[in-house]
Amino acid sequence: MIVTTAQLFKHAYGKYAVGAYNINNAEQAMGLFRGAIDSQAPFIIQISKGARSYTDKRMLEAIIRAAGDIFPEAIFAVHLDHGDEATCYDCIDSGFFSSVMIDASHDPFDKNVEITKRVVDRAHAKGISVEAELGMLGGVEEDIKVEEGNACLTDPVEAEDFVKKTGCDSLACAIGTSHGAFKFKGRQSLHFDVLTKIQTRMPGFPLVMHGSSSVPKDEVDRINASGGTIKDSMGVDVNEYLPAAKLGVTKINIDTDGRLVWTRVHREFFRDKPSEFDFRPPGKIFIAEYAKFIASRNKLLGSAGQLADLRKSLGK
Ligand code: G3H
Ligand code: 13P
Ligand code: ZN
Repeated sequence: MIVTTAQLFKHAYGKYAVGAYNINNAEQAMGLFRGAIDSQAPFIIQISKGARSYTDKRMLEAIIRAAGDIFPEAIFAVHLDHGDEATCYDCIDSGFFSSVMIDASHDPFDKNVEITKRVVDRAHAKGISVEAELGMLGGVEEDIKVEEGNACLTDPVEAEDFVKKTGCDSLACAIGTSHGAFKFKGRQSLHFDVLTKIQTRMPGFPLVMHGSSSVPKDEVDRINASGGTIKDSMGVDVNEYLPAAKLGVTKINIDTDGRLVWTRVHREFFRDKPSEFDFRPPGKIFIAEYAKFIASRNKLLGSAGQLADLRKSLGK
């Protein structure tokens, strides 16, 4: 059942974080839904601009609708990840999305406000909520690379001003993470001081953490042992998910970790079976492994086991 992102946030706020997982194909969708049901967790499916053009945006929508039919117990929202203004409008007008993210975080504050406000007005007219971003994460997004020195943490005073001026429904904050597999050098920790200050100024307002993959060492080691050369990778400490959730982080974005599961499964499969050329056997293993991964993450986010209570609170 597709619900609004706002409904998921209302149930989760301050107690647990909803996992927001990117999908690009049917295998990811099957693993995601399977893992969510196995762990009895609500979730957010997010679609990036790149995912929408990988095959065709209509293909992804059809896959998600079909997965919803195959797993009728699932409760989830559909979200545009890192949208520009035009893509936000396309998703708002499609009638399929529960929420969109407008990412104008690379623009100066006033321009970010101006663009975000325009998207909020269009989205709210259709009952769709908007995630915006303030501050700059390091790392690589689809077509933007932020060098480490240029990344900057969200300023709590600016965050409050930004939310007031734009009317956005949730805010992606830069608290030390970055996209991709190379997040930290040396000691790794989220900036809980920044989160605490933001929550004090805006109690009850949902915050979003991007770049939340944990980049498990054993996963990377297995990839490298089967032909990969991923060096110096590091991710977020999974034990910091729940403390962040208690400070108002209601949505935690995980994409890279899923790509690592895919890479490990396929590298190991073809290493061990060099004469194999059927993609279905490794595809099947991937679906099962991704489901296991999703369930394990939902436990760490605190969203596992919340489905029954959420259903009751939605009156379904
Ligand atoms: O933050 C970006 C997400 O991981 C999506 O990545 O733009 O390559 O689909 P993508
Ligand atoms: P990761 O690269 O850490 O998985 O972050 C994903 C993300 O923030 C999607 O918006
Ligand atoms: Zn992101």
